[in-house]
Amino acid sequence: MADQVIELAQRRLEQRRQEQGTRGQHSAAGDRPRPGDVAIEILDRLQRSAKRWACRACGEELTQDDLNRPLVGAVTEPGFCTACVRRAIERGRKQRERNIVPAMRAAGASVSHAQAKLADYAALPHGAFAVGDPPGFTKGHRGYLICGPWGTGKTHLACALMRGFLIAGHTARYVTAKKLRREVNQTNSDRASRTEQQVIDELCGYDLLVIDDLGKEGTMTDALKSLIHDVLSERLDNLRPVVITTNLPLRGLTTDGVFYPGIAETYDGGIASRLEFLEQVVIDGEDRRQAGGAS
Ligand SMILES: Nc1ncnc2c1ncn2[C@@H]1O[C@H](COP(=O)(O)OP(=O)(O)OP(=O)(O)O)[C@@H](O)[C@H]1O
Ligand SMILES: [Mg+2]
Ligand SMILES: [Zn+2]
Repeated sequence: MADQVIELAQRRLEQRRQEQGTRGQHSAAGDRPRPGDVAIEILDRLQRSAKRWACRACGEELTQDDLNRPLVGAVTEPGFCTACVRRAIERGRKQRERNIVPAMRAAGASVSHAQAKLADYAALPHGAFAVGDPPGFTKGHRGYLICGPWGTGKTHLACALMRGFLIAGHTARYVTAKKLRREVNQTNSDRASRTEQQVIDELCGYDLLVIDDLGKEGTMTDALKSLIHDVLSERLDNLRPVVITTNLPLRGLTTDGVFYPGIAETYDGGIASRLEFLEQVVIDGEDRRQAGGAS
């Protein structure tokens, strides 16, 4: 049956091409679709495509799989075979990996944290990060809340997560909460070059945002609270991941009759409840700086 349809379509296609040859490119006005026209269209396209569509890089004929491939990675231009797309993605990744230290510095990481990588955590209990691209981020992952005492490697881990984003070809920014406070303060000065909304838009524009040392920004201001609130809700609502590090627990604790405030008390409950969406990683252990670490 299918063979007969193809045969019929082939005959009709030949016939139509001959008609078009004598009448010019377009069929006469008022022509109505005839039975079998859809099959003719499909066959026509397949025949033409088989002749015309060759990979623009290697010249190999494109297969239906190549044509149906969803656009992947940084290669958004159609017309390349899957093998060439894979090779191009791999080349881009290798190149970004070679230039990763300057890229980390440009994203805001310090000299020592610019070298951080997830492999540094492989031997630790919290070293099992989901296999994803970027590593640690499966589809729809909202990000991490990294908690723990001083010097245990929170910033190092946040930067290691950022490294994966940059190597995968995404954009990222690392900023300390203290720097955010300065940035938001500057928007209130007479000589401000940016408005608060522009700062928020910039922070929401990166594929990954790392806010380091939440709770260590010094004097808390309403403007900073509101900025962090807006940035977190905008990013999390739009599934744009964040990585936050902090010495504070999410909610305050009473130990030996003394109350130690957490993020809910230092900022507000709204910020704490948004951070609950993040995957928590608690790092403890000895202070790596005391043990001979660098910065
Ligand atoms: N897994 C690791 N492998 C190698 N070096 C590490 C690792 N974790 C941390 N370090 C190094 O140890 C030092 C302290 O780590 P880091 O700055 O990340 O600590 P921290 O928890 O952010 O401290 P703080 O709370 O004071 O900000 C840094 O020089 C960092 O590069
Ligand atoms: Mg730190
Ligand atoms: Zn090719």
